[in-house]
Amino acid sequence: MTTSVPLNGLSLTLNSPIDPDRLDRIVADLATARPRTVVDLGCGWGEVLFRVLEAVPDATGIGIDLESVDIDRGRQTAEARGLADRVRLEAGDASTHRGSYDLALSVGAHHALDPDVGRALTALRGLVVDGGRLLFGVDYWLSEPPPERLKIMWGGSTLAESRPLGEVVDAAAAAGWRLLDLHEVSQSEWNAYECGLVRNQEEWLLAHPDHPDAAGLRRRLDEGRREWLAGHHGYLGFAWLTLGALSRSA
Ligand SMILES: C[S@@+](CC[C@H](N)C(=O)[O-])C[C@H]1O[C@@H](n2cnc3c(N)ncnc32)[C@H](O)[C@@H]1O
Repeated sequence: MTTSVPLNGLSLTLNSPIDPDRLDRIVADLATARPRTVVDLGCGWGEVLFRVLEAVPDATGIGIDLESVDIDRGRQTAEARGLADRVRLEAGDASTHRGSYDLALSVGAHHALDPDVGRALTALRGLVVDGGRLLFGVDYWLSEPPPERLKIMWGGSTLAESRPLGEVVDAAAAAGWRLLDLHEVSQSEWNAYECGLVRNQEEWLLAHPDHPDAAGLRRRLDEGRREWLAGHHGYLGFAWLTLGALSRSA
């Protein structure tokens, strides 16, 4: 039995809010375009990329993430799911990656390319062939949070960090993308994500109430829960956009 506090996120299927069954429906739709080459910028441990490769058996993929712990987890999963010969996972900065792909994935990770959503969408357009696709997972304001809520959200959040959904879609159109499909996650999908992020640590706390690290972990978990429920809960949405790359000559 482990006695040290486990990493968070180990209970999650992927590191973004969505019901995995809904993700499978989005992936099935992407697969109809038969992408042969796929890139995931800020892939985490690669779950979205793996699902695409499983849905398109002749596709190959590259996933890049700064977190080597996540890349190691992804490599083990790729091996276990028989995908290791079709996927390359790299620990590193996705912002310097260059290439030309049929399908790009950027889920909860546009900051990997640019903190500004419009500039990130332009950079992504440069990585996808004319007629190709982008799966873009992005947070947005459901409604503008008042200052007292904004200041509770994760470290020093500003209004400018997210945009209303209409502005995100307009920014995509300005960057050369057409909107093909749009899924907004429900509050329950958000809640499942937030609980899933810390579920294994909460379980650890229940199993080790007298451990010397228990009090510190409990404080951190309480603080994180307040930032969520008294902060972004009900104000921040998360959307999954399927975008098509308009020909540059159009
Ligand atoms: C919210 S997670 C989403 C992970 C994954 N796309 C998923 O949905 O499961 C955002 C990821 O972006 C990665 N990231 C942030 N900046 C990055 C950068 N400059 N290069 C590569 N990855 C980056 C983080 O390490 C993190 O794993």
